[in-house]
Amino acid sequence: MNVLLSIEDLYLNFTTFWGTAYVLNGINLQIYEDEVFGLVGETGCGKSVTSMSILKLLPSNAHLSGKIIFEGRNLLELSENDMKKIRGKKISMIFQDPMSSLNPLFKIKTQMVDVMKLHHNISKDEALKMARELLEAVKLPDPQRVLESYPHQLSGGMRQRVMIALALSFNPSLLIADEPTTALDVTIQKQILELILELKEKYHFSVLLITHDLGVVAETCDRVGVMYAGNMVEIADVEELFENPLHPYTQGLLSAIPDPRYKKPLKPLRGNVPSLLNPPPGCRFHPRCDYMKPICEKEKPELIEYSKNHYVACHLYGGKRNE
Ligand SMILES: Nc1ncnc2c1ncn2[C@@H]1O[C@H](COP(=O)(O)OP(=O)(O)OP(=O)(O)O)[C@@H](O)[C@H]1O
Ligand SMILES: [Mg+2]
Repeated sequence: MNVLLSIEDLYLNFTTFWGTAYVLNGINLQIYEDEVFGLVGETGCGKSVTSMSILKLLPSNAHLSGKIIFEGRNLLELSENDMKKIRGKKISMIFQDPMSSLNPLFKIKTQMVDVMKLHHNISKDEALKMARELLEAVKLPDPQRVLESYPHQLSGGMRQRVMIALALSFNPSLLIADEPTTALDVTIQKQILELILELKEKYHFSVLLITHDLGVVAETCDRVGVMYAGNMVEIADVEELFENPLHPYTQGLLSAIPDPRYKKPLKPLRGNVPSLLNPPPGCRFHPRCDYMKPICEKEKPELIEYSKNHYVACHLYGGKRNE
């Protein structure tokens, strides 16, 4: 498997009115070509800021360090001009609420044609033809009607399809989808996820799928990374993660979802997500962990490859890289 994007020791702090928020605490992850990588974790653990770091779309109070290697270059060292050649083109993104990325005042036609004319250097007629083809590719039943509509005249699922069409118009090698279906009802959710998978097969891009829904992960992803309070605590193939979760946090997450096969009692994680203004020292999960040892309060566990392609950051598993 070839690596498409590699995040190495990524730290992100925000300077805030209340002090420094230590949001990403040395993240490591790799996304391979042609895979769907799922990023899961509770609210506030840093999933969205990880994707915004990849695109370098962070506010001015953000301080990033580490490396994000894409096509042999560290994105953190690129100028804004170089990032513009990557953002929305080689790396595209769709969000939970497509309304926030569409302009309510203009017809879909105008918005799509503007984007395409500007970036592909083509005539208006060519741009319109391309827009229609893209709307067909995302299986919108009546592309002509969609083109003539304003965003509010479309359903949530249709708007998300328009966003996917726009995101794909530059043939990206990575599509970041941040909770792309959370705002949609269950049937539409399924259709949008299936569409993303189908388009991925057709156009060969990788997907970074951010979600808090483990059911979506199970059905959609090849590999999955579990985040906790700004740390990557476990990465594995999706079947392996569900069958053999190593990190106590992952075990907690999985035992907190209802499983109709077993009728087992739900065991929610105890305690709360820590404040990132004053995160716990050592392993950030230790105050909630049933297996806490003295070292957990002192040393941050490294992410190690515990078994083939199964990574975990937890002192229960040695805490040293197997080199
Ligand atoms: N501009 C900012 N200034 C200060 N803190 C921020 C800023 N943006 C995000 N954060 C903090 O970074 C942390 C991670 O936020 P992020 O949005 O990545 O969470 P998330 O995992 O995507 O959560 P959710 O599942 O709710 O979308 C949160 O504690 C958040 O408060
Ligand atoms: Mg988020």
